[in-house]
Amino acid sequence: MIPKIIIDQIFETARIEEVIGEFVNLKKAGQNLRGLSPFVDEKTPSFFVSPVKQIFKCFSSGKGGSVVSFLMEHEHYSYPEALKFLAKRYQIEIPEEEQTDEQKQAANERESLYIVNSYGQDFFEEKLWNSDEGKSIGVSYFRGRGFTDDIIKKFKLGYNPSGWNILVKDANEKGYKTEFLIQAGLVKQKEARVYDTYRERVMFPIHNLSGRVIGFGGRTLKTDKKIPKYINSPESLIYHKSDSLYGIYYAKSAMIKHDMCYLVEGYTDVISLHQAGVENVVASSGTSLTEGQIRLIKRYTSNITVLYDGDAAGIKASFRGIDMILEQGLNIKVVLFPDGEDPDSYAQKLDSEDFKDYLAEYATDFIVFKTDVLNKDAKNDPLEKAKLLREVVNSIALIPDHLTRAVYIKECGRLLDIEEKVLILELNKIRRKRINDERSKNAVQNQQPDLEPLPEIELIGKQSVHVNEQDIDFQELDVIRLLLNYGNLHIKKKNDDVIKEEEPETIENLFAVRLIKEFLADQIPFENPLYQQVIETVMKQVQKDGALRTEAFLNDNSVEVVNLYVDVVNPRYALHKWDTVKIFVKGEEQKLSDAINSATTMLRLKRINKLIIKNNNKTKIAQEEGRDYIPLQKELMVINNAKRKIADLIGAVILK
Ligand code: CTP
Ligand code: MN
Repeated sequence: MIPKIIIDQIFETARIEEVIGEFVNLKKAGQNLRGLSPFVDEKTPSFFVSPVKQIFKCFSSGKGGSVVSFLMEHEHYSYPEALKFLAKRYQIEIPEEEQTDEQKQAANERESLYIVNSYGQDFFEEKLWNSDEGKSIGVSYFRGRGFTDDIIKKFKLGYNPSGWNILVKDANEKGYKTEFLIQAGLVKQKEARVYDTYRERVMFPIHNLSGRVIGFGGRTLKTDKKIPKYINSPESLIYHKSDSLYGIYYAKSAMIKHDMCYLVEGYTDVISLHQAGVENVVASSGTSLTEGQIRLIKRYTSNITVLYDGDAAGIKASFRGIDMILEQGLNIKVVLFPDGEDPDSYAQKLDSEDFKDYLAEYATDFIVFKTDVLNKDAKNDPLEKAKLLREVVNSIALIPDHLTRAVYIKECGRLLDIEEKVLILELNKIRRKRINDERSKNAVQNQQPDLEPLPEIELIGKQSVHVNEQDIDFQELDVIRLLLNYGNLHIKKKNDDVIKEEEPETIENLFAVRLIKEFLADQIPFENPLYQQVIETVMKQVQKDGALRTEAFLNDNSVEVVNLYVDVVNPRYALHKWDTVKIFVKGEEQKLSDAINSATTMLRLKRINKLIIKNNNKTKIAQEEGRDYIPLQKELMVINNAKRKIADLIGAVILK
């Protein structure tokens, strides 16, 4: 916890134009400063910083806020991390929390490891460029691979000379303790003898997000098969292999800018791609991808393109790792290189533009790619084909987003020449099984269907600017969830109970009708066309049958709607619930009127918020361009009035 008084001091001291100026090239534009957005690829500057108001606004991405929110958006810092960054930048001391002796010692040890690694990096660089051995062996090796001197320097590549203890001796002379050199893996000890780990190897330092050295890979230049090609640093207090990616420090801003990350296998692939002008690239360093590494990428982008060399066995072995990426909700493409080429060799072979064109042109969607590969294997063997179908649908079933799943089902149906219905059947079987497995694992049986969590609106510093575009979609989905789960129940007009048997069940008190009526009154269609389609079919059916029948609903609808249905309907009731009207379960059903009120009110509020944001943006642009913005202000007053009314209602609904 950073004390409030220090937080205030940080906010008062930090100058947004100075801090952002270190990330973005800003030029004066009237009262403001202007530059190219660091969040999107653009040619005309749409990124503004106001030194007077101490805020920034990016009109291309819609992002805006204080200096702290900038650091959170751009550097992906947490709130305290951003504050600490600023405190350091402006030499404001944050009082240390009382640490236990163990904590202090661990912190010291970590720091010592960083220090010896940083020493190691300098030592290897110095030896590479300034020793005869380094120049004749190391530099000429790198140059021979086509690396330019600039790129060798950028990645701080180095060389560890031959001889048993050149590094140990130098380090000890300079006062670095052997204990930490060993922990960092730079040297080894056998009985009384201490010797350099990476003798006669070219060195690739591995950097963490903030550019500090956490480890090394050392490549031998010998071709002897008995000698390991790479020796890598051991796990240590600062190097957790499963949470690190080679190249992340050099890739992060390009990853944000292109909203995409290329994934390759090794050190040299990363470096050659950089040299070809592709900077959004990281390597898993030979091992299969871990969840921690995926999380790291996800901080910057949800699009990954995996670059493979052409070896078929390797490709199939990688399928499982990729399933894990799918499960995390990331979009994956793959690029295959011609036989015998890998990303490194191909980036060296083509000129930069041709290489980039190749990546763009050959990027294939992973699911499509997998289907293709397996389909070629299966030939026309029906048993093989059934296996293939399950394999592919298994991957699709991992994708959290139902719309994406629907698209893939369609595409794979086409590719495999199989009816979509068959695939959907298989998909739903797998998904239902997974959901049930999950449920029985989590012993506490939850009545709520699986729903994507609502994103929180964050309050950052003094402004609350962070508004998620998906907000409305979530809220609309919540309405659909209610509709599909409880649409066929009858509710009383005044109180919340599910109607008793002796009371009349009319169309008017059908939950679906009550809910939809609310929205018809607004005359605003749902933004998500799929949800709008659900509402329309439900209405039609109610009008025709006076009730909702699962079978009929599912028959009348597209694949996408069927998938949506499976997603939002609690699997325990799925497919038979609508036909048995009289269920009495404690929970949401008992509070159906409330559920209608709160879902409709929340959606209206979200819609209004969106109008306000739009209005703000328009006003700012009008101001910037010196146009009259009074009409916009008037419009804003009307909107704000409406918002107040709704807020009152929310008080009534939510606070109850
Ligand atoms: N790797 C490793 N140990 C090995 C072989 C490979 O740790 N004995 C890891 C390294 O991180 C390496 C990656 O796996 O970068 C990919 O292996 P490979 O393609 O063999 O190495 P490159 O870095 O591409 O090296 P080169 O092109 O010089 O063969
Ligand atoms: Mn290679």
